[in-house]
Amino acid sequence: MNILLLGKNGQVGWELQRSLAVLGEVTALGHDEADFTQPQAVAQAVRALCPDVIVNAAAHTAVDKAESEPERARLLNATTPGVLAEEAVRLGAWLVHYSTDYVFDGSGSRPWRETDAPAPLSVYGATKLEGERLIQQSGCRHLILRTSWVYAARGGNFAKTMLRLAQERERLTVIDDQWGAPTGADLLADVTAHAIRHLQQRPQDGGLYHCVAGGETTWHSYAKYVVEHARQAQSAINIIAKEIAPVPTSAFLTPARRPHNSRLDNAKLQAAFGLRLPPWQQGVARMLTEIL
Ligand SMILES: NC(=O)c1ccc[n+]([C@@H]2O[C@H](COP(=O)([O-])OP(=O)(O)OC[C@H]3O[C@@H](n4cnc5c(N)ncnc54)[C@H](OP(=O)(O)O)[C@@H]3O)[C@@H](O)[C@H]2O)c1
Repeated sequence: MNILLLGKNGQVGWELQRSLAVLGEVTALGHDEADFTQPQAVAQAVRALCPDVIVNAAAHTAVDKAESEPERARLLNATTPGVLAEEAVRLGAWLVHYSTDYVFDGSGSRPWRETDAPAPLSVYGATKLEGERLIQQSGCRHLILRTSWVYAARGGNFAKTMLRLAQERERLTVIDDQWGAPTGADLLADVTAHAIRHLQQRPQDGGLYHCVAGGETTWHSYAKYVVEHARQAQSAINIIAKEIAPVPTSAFLTPARRPHNSRLDNAKLQAAFGLRLPPWQQGVARMLTEIL
């Protein structure tokens, strides 16, 4: 199997380099080699390689910045994924793509299902939704995995920011009215590899799925878990934080609105692919062990 991986240096892209390697010949391209602001150049790269599977991990993920550069966000999150879908149709290739909990408006408290109506609150969410639709409408064989709160040991992430702040301040304030599941880039990459393998036997299982770690939490509880873990790990870092105070979303003014309810129901994915998505704490604990 020939696999083209785009966005190889992102959180998910980096882990995909590892997890896809066992499936076949992987050609991994980064921003410099396939620039999503140049859709036709990306199409040329696909044509030159004639892959059996295209895995797109590139995206405009700077949620607040997207509000002030919607054209760029649209190119990266919608237009170029749409062009990838057209190329996939031409080649008869699979297109694997990632989307987000931010396609929903965050109302209610029930985990969102794939059949629920999206209503994005932000440019990021709207452009990611447009990307999904262009892929679905193209008629290409596809797998779209919507995920949330992605972290990886490599690069910056929420847990690392909390650990830094907990060493600098006695009091932290963290949002406690947004609910979701922190999901490891390593878990997403492993699920992707399993799913690609599965789809070779059962192509009828392609489509849109929610893919998040098990359970749910708030940013506040997540921060407490991270700081407590660091305290107990007796690592070299010196935690001085005495209090992690819960605050509402309104305490932090950001350009982009974020959903309060980012819970995603992953029952469909688990049933279709015969997988079990472990509780979020498992992956976060593992990442903390790596970074502490
Ligand atoms: N991060 C989250 O919390 C989250 C939540 C839900 C869904 N998702 C989705 O999951 C997928 C993977 O996200 P991630 O967390 O791995 O994102 P990430 O770490 O921000 O990686 C995004 C990748 O896109 C690349 N990129 C940026 N501009 C580009 C351009 N003009 N041309 C080509 N590549 C470009 C980046 O390359 P450079 O670094 O070289 O610029 C980077 O490799 C995305 O589809 C995202 O929407 C993420």
